[in-house]
Amino acid sequence: MRFQGKVVLITGAAGGLGEASTRRFAAEGAQLILTDLDQEKVETLAAKCRAEFGTSVVALGGDIAQESVVNNVVAAGLSEFGRIDILFNNAGINPTGNVVDTSLEVWDLTMNINLRSAFMMTSRVVPGMVSAGGGVIVNTASVASFKASTNEAAYSVSKAALLQLTKVTARDFAHANIRANAVCAGILENFMADRKAISSDDMMEKRRNRVREIVPFKREGRYEEIANVVAFLASDEASYITGAALTADGGLTV
Ligand SMILES: NC(=O)c1ccc[n+]([C@@H]2O[C@H](COP(=O)([O-])OP(=O)(O)OC[C@H]3O[C@@H](n4cnc5c(N)ncnc54)[C@H](O)[C@@H]3O)[C@@H](O)[C@H]2O)c1
Repeated sequence: MRFQGKVVLITGAAGGLGEASTRRFAAEGAQLILTDLDQEKVETLAAKCRAEFGTSVVALGGDIAQESVVNNVVAAGLSEFGRIDILFNNAGINPTGNVVDTSLEVWDLTMNINLRSAFMMTSRVVPGMVSAGGGVIVNTASVASFKASTNEAAYSVSKAALLQLTKVTARDFAHANIRANAVCAGILENFMADRKAISSDDMMEKRRNRVREIVPFKREGRYEEIANVVAFLASDEASYITGAALTADGGLTV
């Protein structure tokens, strides 16, 4: 029970990796603050955690790109639990487009959800961690943080900057016993929700075939496998790790 007595805030909690990580933290004793754009899904997940693990959970819907939503989530979590020990910035979108055909609107949306929301969350949660004598931040970056993804210009740039946000946080707050690390996943078992919404079964099959060609393990990563990495980085087992990009990609970038 690595997270007994710990309060964990998870963004994008209702998605594939968000749900797998939520369940891992809940199974290991954490109290949870869950948030996602999809209010119904995040409330259903919270109810499951209460029933299955006896978890104390606050679940909130909302657009994490909005400053008022970020403030509200942090305030609701603090009011319920009095502190936040672990912050998992995980919400994201994955639009397609190169630098020519990505609209300014899509560019801004991607930066606001994938990067600015993590910056806002971090800036609002860190002061409490400093007062409490420490804390842990895990950011969901990607292999796209250091290897440009084809036709995912805004996504790749947002994830590269998210990795640097991780590093500046690690450097500036090491003195306060705060660790910040990034998990850099390769290709996972599902398209992200925004991409899935516009994808056919045929596109999913093409993705699977491509994975067999380019990933040495010849398969996608399972959400549970990445949730294990998130939990490791969030736990005391990673006590000497900060500012790191931990890659979990089945060998894709080797
Ligand atoms: N799926 C992959 O192949 C893959 C690969 C590498 C990295 N990642 C990263 O993992 C993380 C989770 O991805 P996933 O595969 O679970 O995708 P997902 O789409 O299932 O989960 C993302 C969650 O973020 C939420 N979200 C999106 N916009 C939001 C907003 N404005 N406000 C609040 N919540 C919002 C969505 O509702 C969704 O539940 C993302 O940061 C993604 O970039 C995914």
